[in-house]
Amino acid sequence: MPTKPSILVTRKLPDNVIARIQRDYDAKLNLEDKLYDPETVIRLASGCAGILTCSTEKFPAGQIERLPASVKIIATFSVGYEHIDVAAAKARGIVVTNTPDVLTDSTADIALLLMLGAARRAYEGERLVRTRQWKSWAPTFMLGTDVTRKTLGIFGMGRIGQAVAKRARGFDMEIHYSNRRRLPPEQEQGAIFHADPDTMLPLIDFLSINAPSTPDTVHWLDARRIGLMKKTAIVVNTARGNIVDDAALIPALRDGRIRAAGLDVFEGEPNLNPAYLSLDNTFLLPHIGSATDGTRDAMGFRAVDNLDAFFAGREPPDRLA
Ligand code: DGY
Repeated sequence: MPTKPSILVTRKLPDNVIARIQRDYDAKLNLEDKLYDPETVIRLASGCAGILTCSTEKFPAGQIERLPASVKIIATFSVGYEHIDVAAAKARGIVVTNTPDVLTDSTADIALLLMLGAARRAYEGERLVRTRQWKSWAPTFMLGTDVTRKTLGIFGMGRIGQAVAKRARGFDMEIHYSNRRRLPPEQEQGAIFHADPDTMLPLIDFLSINAPSTPDTVHWLDARRIGLMKKTAIVVNTARGNIVDDAALIPALRDGRIRAAGLDVFEGEPNLNPAYLSLDNTFLLPHIGSATDGTRDAMGFRAVDNLDAFFAGREPPDRLA
């Protein structure tokens, strides 16, 4: 029997995924799910041909340079890959893969949850019920704003953006989007394209951020762009926290220049800007866009599919470098 490839798995993955890894790999697992610092990753990767990582472990150029020569592939258990310097990996001949497609639906579901939660004041309502401060039904009690028939702007119309649009059509929303390239009509499905997001922002009631984090999108939602939006608009982010400039969004939420925000991701998470916590017009979740049992199994299997292909001498299906 051929020897099993040795890999480092940096986080505790779902049981079904671990079972497959244990069957097919000589794996260093992290069953206690400790957060490894960069030095620990370098040390544990010694003798490993692959690393199965998550977005919690960072691989900037300096870390990639220090990886043991044995490491030939980094497979990330995530669709986002801003935590890996793909060019540096390529320069060292290290293959990088991610897990697209499988988390599209669960992440789009959370975007709708955030839209509804922020629009309908879910945080305030939940708190009233749990603290027993809810006194009675009243005609003017806890008035939110409708999602149905409103205008949605999607920044980043990739797989997840398109899945958000599909769900929003169920709410009879008018869909606008801004993307690096215009989609073909069968993917656009009647959504209105804006080559420049600045022309979209003044028109929309909801903004859903679905773009990847890149040097071009860091702090994309800044004070100037917020200034283009309606005061009644609602901001939703399921992509990456650093696409929003917290220093601009927080005062806008506080001063009524943006109505509400639904956020699943935060710059510096889990140490988010504490000012969000004191705002009643925020609906906040702990980066759970892809956190369903089915999706997390599928992400793990997809990461292992990439490792399997690589070690069998085939092209990994989700190769980034
Ligand atoms: C992803 O897959 O990118 C999720 O946000 C988890 O990191």
